[in-house]
Amino acid sequence: MPRHLITSALPYINGVKHLGNLVGSMLPADVYARYLRQSGEEVLFVCATDEHGTPAELAAAAAGQAVDEYCAEQHEVQRELCEQFGLSWDWFGRTSRPQNYELTNHFARRLRSEGFCEIRSTEQVYSLTDQRFLPDRYVVGTCPNCGYERARGDQCESCGKPLEPVDLIDPRSAISGSVDLEVRSSNHVFLRQEALADRIREWIDTKDSWPSQTRSIAYKWLDEGLRDRGITRDLAWGIPVDPDDFPEVAGKVWYVWFDAPIGYLAAVREWADAGCGGDDPQAEFDSWWRLDSGADQVEYTQFMGKDNVPFHTLSFPATLLGSGEPWKLVDRLKSFNWLTYYGGKFSTSDHRGVFMSDALELLPADYWRWYLMSNAPESDDSSFTWELFGSAVNKELVGTFGNLVNRTVTQVERHFESCVPDGGEPETEEAELSAAVQQRLEEYLAFLDALEFRKAAASLRALWSLGNVYLETREPWKTIKVDPARTACTLRTALELLVVCAVASEPFVPAAAAKLQGAFPTVNWEDLRLKADLASRNHLQPGDTLKSPGLLFAKLPAEQLEEWEQRFGGNSSDGTTAESDKVEP
Ligand code: 2FM
Ligand code: ZN
Repeated sequence: MPRHLITSALPYINGVKHLGNLVGSMLPADVYARYLRQSGEEVLFVCATDEHGTPAELAAAAAGQAVDEYCAEQHEVQRELCEQFGLSWDWFGRTSRPQNYELTNHFARRLRSEGFCEIRSTEQVYSLTDQRFLPDRYVVGTCPNCGYERARGDQCESCGKPLEPVDLIDPRSAISGSVDLEVRSSNHVFLRQEALADRIREWIDTKDSWPSQTRSIAYKWLDEGLRDRGITRDLAWGIPVDPDDFPEVAGKVWYVWFDAPIGYLAAVREWADAGCGGDDPQAEFDSWWRLDSGADQVEYTQFMGKDNVPFHTLSFPATLLGSGEPWKLVDRLKSFNWLTYYGGKFSTSDHRGVFMSDALELLPADYWRWYLMSNAPESDDSSFTWELFGSAVNKELVGTFGNLVNRTVTQVERHFESCVPDGGEPETEEAELSAAVQQRLEEYLAFLDALEFRKAAASLRALWSLGNVYLETREPWKTIKVDPARTACTLRTALELLVVCAVASEPFVPAAAAKLQGAFPTVNWEDLRLKADLASRNHLQPGDTLKSPGLLFAKLPAEQLEEWEQRFGGNSSDGTTAESDKVEP
């Protein structure tokens, strides 16, 4: 049985994440981790804030804070929000911690000694006013191709033409607007990805179980020819290169996309150093990451938005493979399309859409978790609208799951003094229900195994529905007057189904599941596994007490949804975002 390592793309430090960020990596990773833990598997689920790069520096400057102070504060903000969202990480680290410094310099050193690093001189735009080199996207000007006046130095957003900053007409700094720019040459370390391309291709060729979107993104870059990549930057904030290893670039820092994925290893190292895995941190770390120390028995699953795929299929593997050491590479890679806000972009810089902090002010996490995961942008982009959100809550959470729990519990309270009823014999309907539940459960588990979250959510919803259909067929509220024994059997059966739902729903709606579990104080929940045989056994004894779980979900009135739509804006125009510092892999 493998041990499971799970990571979700590391959220940028600058600013609270929006629902699109959440559903594209952290939330599905959590659902999967919870599912595996519920099934009794050994799981290590880690994440961290991605703290380096120009956006972090600029965000700190805009907040009037020193960048390290800004990052420390924002890390806490994100950690708290993620906790409230129920993200069940075993560790939430920071790429700015010493573990990442050490590992990043370790990999750079190894890559150099294996012959995969080269020092090259590059021409870069320097802003005299800002007193800094400007990354390409922070140089703006008029596009020579279409005349768009706010084209960025890496690509024109209007006509899509890839650009170099020197191509722009009337270039200026995107930070200050200054035109006081000059081109300076600067030495940088380049990772020789071209030389690693064949090894990467060989490795990707073995991944025929990867989703086609993931494979095609990887092959597209490989087929176009993987280019060598500059992995140092002239910035003040970042992981400093070790001058003993790289004297030619002393004083520079590693590029954020070089150190960020190494942050996955560093997060495990932080976890191990904190003693969470036992008293030998080195051995513990190695057992998750080194193939010669037990990591060959690990199944490693990564979650991310599709824009991150090239970095995780090409450049990060290039770092690991190029080191010449036996590091664990990703086994399963689940990528997501975009969640849009009414068809337009969620935007951190323009604060368009719903952000994690907004969301939690309005409603508890489960409402959002359910909506987001049952509409996850898996095969295509999906659009957030308040109407869809309202319908997921009102029809599915309230009308289906909540209703099943509520009507069952109410009847048991009213007619059986809040105890599991005794008497009555199962009939055909119970046998049919049991077979249907079994089938839904198996289907649900298969979808979760396959990382097909929308389909898994549909199966879970179908499981809840089975209970309602059963109750409507058996009508305990009517039969109680004429046939108490039959009613007892009906409600006992429905209660057993609630036990199954309380386990099965946990990955998607953990708070509601916990509330429901609390209704059955006699059940030993620790022993119940989310496995196919969950529904084939009885978990309750006649006479067992039932405590009221209270209302699991509250209905959202139309006026409320309208008010939120007004408040957050029901439509959206496209805009540029300054969230990332990405270049091609
Ligand atoms: O796109 C992003 O949000 C990046 N911060 C993801 C980094 S993933 C990993 F490589 F660190
Ligand atoms: Zn253009």
